[in-house]
Amino acid sequence: MDLERILNLNQFEAHAREQMEPYAFAYYCGAAGDEITMRRNLDAWNRFSLRPRVFVDISSVDISSSMLGTPVSMPVGFAPTALHKLAHPDGELASARATGEAGALICLSTLSTYSIEEVAKAGRGPRWFQLYVHKDRELAIELVQRAVASGYSGIVVTADLPVPGYREREFAHDLTVPEDASPANFPNAATEEEFNDYLDHLHDRSLTWDDLSWIRETAGEVPVLVKGILTEEDAILASEHGAGGIIVSNHGGRQLDRCPAPIDVLEEIVQVAGECEVFLDGGVRRGIDVVTALALGAKGVFVGRPFLYALAAGGEEGVGRALELLRAEIENAMTLLGVSRVNEITRAHVGPN
Ligand code: FNR
Ligand code: LAC
Repeated sequence: MDLERILNLNQFEAHAREQMEPYAFAYYCGAAGDEITMRRNLDAWNRFSLRPRVFVDISSVDISSSMLGTPVSMPVGFAPTALHKLAHPDGELASARATGEAGALICLSTLSTYSIEEVAKAGRGPRWFQLYVHKDRELAIELVQRAVASGYSGIVVTADLPVPGYREREFAHDLTVPEDASPANFPNAATEEEFNDYLDHLHDRSLTWDDLSWIRETAGEVPVLVKGILTEEDAILASEHGAGGIIVSNHGGRQLDRCPAPIDVLEEIVQVAGECEVFLDGGVRRGIDVVTALALGAKGVFVGRPFLYALAAGGEEGVGRALELLRAEIENAMTLLGVSRVNEITRAHVGPN
């Protein structure tokens, strides 16, 4: 397909729908319950307006930044997402090559279809690792140790999935993951049912704030982030328990339906987050979304479904095209906003309508 004809992130979805098996597309696109939160994630941006400043010298615009100490070419990462092989046989290898080529961050899921080490070798760019804690703690500890040894510079502990949300599109399709797309990080536990087994039986639902201490200890110098925070109360607890970062997220609307859109709670969370750097994901589709999140205090954002759809549409080149489009949109938005560096974007650049 001619990727040049795709002009924005929303346009990858139709191509992914054509390329993918119906059950796999249902898994990617679905969300919980009536999918109110998923739609809210997309709609919420429209309630904010941008306040452009004029006659500012913006002869050059530089969108490079750093995300919790990791230098990045743009303040956007590939959100941790399971099972990239459902989109393309090259799976996470293609995703990591494309993000690496662009100098953007990829956060690898625990439930990736290529291993921590394979992905590190394929894409030499900035990378973090997302942790789901296995009931067998030794396996979880090993994952963190392997990620640190392979140069992942952030450990993202996902907090909002003690169990999967009530996702009717998944129930309507038989989500039996084929063996060649089963999670690659548990080499001794591979079975055809492994993905479903993992979330239904192997994933530890008893995790509490105190568990952050052994995860931090295992990660050593590498900072630990908590993903899936939507309240001030939990942001304070994350900061008190030594998290280096918070990802404000409702898991793309896939967990508890009727949660707020991350952009609607971002600012109050930033205000209580103390030393934590705050990030956001959910419904980020445009360069103007990115600058809005940065203006309200995010250090960076993550994109889930559109990058997965880009992977389905064109493998490594597809993800590369998506990153190129988003980069161009961010540069354009910053130029028209009157800022030439990411850290010049302030609260004053966003107002209510
Ligand atoms: C996810 N997400 C997710 N999060 C996580 O911490 N670990 C994971 O393995 C996955 N897997 C996953 C699979 C699929 C198919 C999707 C769509 C999402 C959630 C993801 O990191 C992120 O929070 C959302 O995708 C962000 O919303 P958008 O960009 O998809 O709207
Ligand atoms: C999901 C899990 C794996 O959202 O995070 O499907």
